[in-house]
Amino acid sequence: MNILILGGGGREHALAWAVQQNPKCDRLIVAPGNAGIAAIAECASLDIEDGGAVAEFCNENAVDFVIIGPEAPLAAGVADRLEEAGILVFGPSAAAARLEASKRFTKEICAEAGAPTAAWARFSEAGPARAHVAAHFRGETRPIVIKADGLAAGKGVIVAETEAAALAAIDDMFGGAFGGAGAEVVIEEFMDGEEASFFVLSDGKTLLPIGTAQDHKRAFEGDTGPNTGGMGAYSPAPVLTEAVAKRAMEEIIAPTMRVMAERGTPYRGVLYAGLMIKDGQPRLVEYNVRFGDPECQVLMMRLGAQALDLMLATAEGRLDEKRVNWADDHAITVVMAAKGYPGAYEKGSQIRGLEALPEDSGHMVFHAGTRLVDGKITAAGGRVLNVTARGESLREARDEAYAMIEAIDWPEGFCRRDIGWRALK
Ligand code: AMP
Ligand code: GLY
Repeated sequence: MNILILGGGGREHALAWAVQQNPKCDRLIVAPGNAGIAAIAECASLDIEDGGAVAEFCNENAVDFVIIGPEAPLAAGVADRLEEAGILVFGPSAAAARLEASKRFTKEICAEAGAPTAAWARFSEAGPARAHVAAHFRGETRPIVIKADGLAAGKGVIVAETEAAALAAIDDMFGGAFGGAGAEVVIEEFMDGEEASFFVLSDGKTLLPIGTAQDHKRAFEGDTGPNTGGMGAYSPAPVLTEAVAKRAMEEIIAPTMRVMAERGTPYRGVLYAGLMIKDGQPRLVEYNVRFGDPECQVLMMRLGAQALDLMLATAEGRLDEKRVNWADDHAITVVMAAKGYPGAYEKGSQIRGLEALPEDSGHMVFHAGTRLVDGKITAAGGRVLNVTARGESLREARDEAYAMIEAIDWPEGFCRRDIGWRALK
């Protein structure tokens, strides 16, 4: 098969790494790719949010199967365009991708499905939203959560500890800080508990869980500092026990998928359920309609080549024939980011020492934001490398990953030294 992966981050490098190990894969193209991806696949330049352009590229290059990595092309309807053009695709339709693209939509679906989630209200004007917040802080000292309705590159959620912070978030959102994504605002009850992510494939009829993970969203050690796209992740997530996973499937994910199918917009792809777990009870924080980044890196490290068969079965509506072959293993990924991230950072510094590192079924440095400049690997983003290792225990995987980091010579970068602490304590 000729396979095209859309995207150019660590998630797509991990997807490419897994797919290319499968003998079904003849030719692998990634658009736009990056310096690490270029070592294992062809990179193509293509407007990946333009469904027509992607379909044309597929026809010109005899692409048999497209895997869509990020949310933006999904929300833009690229999967719909490909399906219309008769091209097999992994990733939900734009209508189904609303589970990520609109917080309000997800809340309405949860209400219809009876899925446990935080109490919420929605606002299209600042005045009533401010009044709602003021009323909350009159009787409560707990934080409140302010969310821009639409896609905001992971930055549209503010957990406000004080009334002043909540009001500022509302003013920012209605003031256009997130563009059109903030035209509506959802205000939610703060849920406490431990957060974990559950990944489930759906072909519109059958559901198949493919793994659990936990990430570290804060920039600095001890889970402090500003929110980021994720500074590291590990799989499996100990808090997502079999009993909790069963409840999440029965109470949240299966009912959601049923409602989506009943509405005539069945969900096909990977569903990433962000869960808050307390006393064995999972509640939904959010859905994403794609693999997490960097969670995908640890899932791919554990699934390996079977990931392609699972994604193909999802796209072809044959998930009922599939099972996941599990090893009793653990994987971890540590993000190396440019100093300054998630704020302002420099691009263009050179990264040395990568050639000497092992690359095998237990060790990989996935590239998240790199570019080849005159044959040298240089930093080209905020999150730059995902140093990933697998082991019989999380501790073993963690030690392997940090040993790899020791060998990387990149003074302009930083990483957290405590990835996995919650599961290791
Ligand atoms: P989201 O983009 O919806 O995942 O939100 C980003 C992060 O904000 C989540 O991963 C949680 O850590 C936090 N968060 C979002 N909603 C809530 C909530 N209702 N209660 C507590 N934390 C939340
Ligand atoms: N790591 C969080 C996400 O992919 O949304």
